[in-house]
Amino acid sequence: MNLTNSPQRFGLVSKLIHWLMALLILSLIAIALYMDTLPRGPEKFQLFDLHKGLGLIAIAAIAIRIIWHRVSKVPAPIGEGIKLTMAHLGHLALYLLMLAMPISGMMMSLAGGHDIKFFGLFTIAGFAEKNVMLNELGASVHHYAGQLLYVVIAVHVLAALYHHFILKDDTIKRITSK
Ligand code: HEM
Ligand code: HEM
Repeated sequence: MNLTNSPQRFGLVSKLIHWLMALLILSLIAIALYMDTLPRGPEKFQLFDLHKGLGLIAIAAIAIRIIWHRVSKVPAPIGEGIKLTMAHLGHLALYLLMLAMPISGMMMSLAGGHDIKFFGLFTIAGFAEKNVMLNELGASVHHYAGQLLYVVIAVHVLAALYHHFILKDDTIKRITSK
């Protein structure tokens, strides 16, 4: 089992990062969608804390992912011409959104004067005085980048299925097995 990537295949580290982060981000979205439906109260605030704690893990994970992919370059997507360009742009969009989401989330919370608790281990204190401009900017970016993320993830999954079932190439296989 190879730990590092080669020009043709993903190594174990990149595979683990991909699937653990996919699980983390889909969980963050599911929690966000559910907490949005709740009335203000203890259950909603508990879920806010869970979402924010997991969001901090996401920011650390994306930093590790970017560093790792500098150390061990991921293989180019399978395909040529326009399809290859689209795959590259899709992955770039996923990276930008994976950065924009936790950064804007932290900005919205801290500038809104709310602490970010990390599962009882430590707390990042919110601004003593609310900064309305930064709070609203963070909230807007978090909201609109979130909407965009749903679309880009949906296209990403459909593209993976298209490669597997229509083009019948190794796109899914090389990030799951081998
Ligand atoms: C659960 C559904 C998912 C499936 C079936 C899936 C499938 C795949 C496949 C097959 C590849 C390899 C593409 C290639 O060979 O170039 C890939 C790469 C990638 N996926 Fe996903 N993915 C899923 C979820 C996600 C999520 C939720 C994210 C992030 C929000 C994500 C981000 C990426 C990125 C950035 C790459 C490029 C390779 C890299 O830099 O690590 N994926 N995905
Ligand atoms: C990759 C990381 C993250 C993802 C994918 C994510 C995703 C989301 C999504 C989809 C929403 C619903 C937005 C809407 O349409 O209104 C949301 C809401 C929220 N997120 Fe995040 N988030 C992440 C990280 C964070 C972080 C790090 C924080 C703060 C430390 C945070 C704080 C919040 C808060 C407070 C809300 C509720 C906003 C409201 O309803 O007023 N998020 N998040």
